[in-house]
Amino acid sequence: MSASVFVTRAIPEAGFAVLRAAGLTLEVGQEDPDLPLDDAALVAGVRRHPVLLCQLTDRVGRDVLAANPALLGVAQMAVGFDNIDIEAARALGIPVGTTPGVLTEATADLTLALLLAVARRVVEGHRYVERGNWKAWGPQLLLGSGVGPAPDGAKKTLGIVGFGRIGAAVARRALGFGMRVVAWTRTPARVASVPGVEHADLDALLRTSDFVSLHVPRNEETHRLIDAARLASMKPGAYLINTARGTVVDESALVEALAAGHLRGAGLDVFEAEPEVHPGLLGNDRVVLLPHLGSATREVRDRMAVMAAENAVAFARGEPCPHPLG
Ligand code: DGY
Repeated sequence: MSASVFVTRAIPEAGFAVLRAAGLTLEVGQEDPDLPLDDAALVAGVRRHPVLLCQLTDRVGRDVLAANPALLGVAQMAVGFDNIDIEAARALGIPVGTTPGVLTEATADLTLALLLAVARRVVEGHRYVERGNWKAWGPQLLLGSGVGPAPDGAKKTLGIVGFGRIGAAVARRALGFGMRVVAWTRTPARVASVPGVEHADLDALLRTSDFVSLHVPRNEETHRLIDAARLASMKPGAYLINTARGTVVDESALVEALAAGHLRGAGLDVFEAEPEVHPGLLGNDRVVLLPHLGSATREVRDRMAVMAAENAVAFARGEPCPHPLG
């Protein structure tokens, strides 16, 4: 089988340029970058090519990995890899590469954007103006919650659940806003990497935080980590921000916590069954919804495409993966 790559969906041109410069033959499964490839087309593509360059929307299960005994590697254009059966890949001796590090700052920016948007009712305000509802400046118009210190100096607390690269980058930004920042992680020593952040256990964090932001990976341990009981334990009037993975939150329980007024708002970039969104989250002024845009800047997506392409080239040449799982 000649060195060729199956690219499941059209990626930024910078990535294609790397693949072409390496002289690889390419097949693109789905030319429309906004549409995923279906499972059957994915398996068929893997059968035809020894290298796979895929996206987090591609379900790369054991069946896909085993579809081609000559498969040399899987280059995922994302840092998360929960769509890939990593155990099966290991068992089959198929290396998997991702794009670690590059999207940290962009995702942290988007986290703060969501936090500010829900706290200060930015989307609601935009709609209010756009719909012609604005009559005059109003002393009580669309009052939100402060993020930085209040006039009396009282600080808002941000609780960060998961303190990897993105959690730490969110913490640095929040400290810059004058927030108190507490973090929960299974590796408490990590918290010391950002001076000013305090470690807290998860229960205490949920009980005391005005804003809770999620930054754990998707796995069995984090599945519905924020369930009905944990939502109920959150400080009344708090906000939940999720730019990690939708499965970390029980979406129905979140809808109920919002409807009951226990939580004041939520900013969500990820959902349990993307692109499906729980109907109770739609048309809700206290919720800001985004279509999984954490890493969506031109610079970052170009770099992610280049890193995934570099991994694909290495697999095709039988060289070590330059950007392994991380
Ligand atoms: C990732 O890389 O895992 C993000 O969710 C999308 O870029």
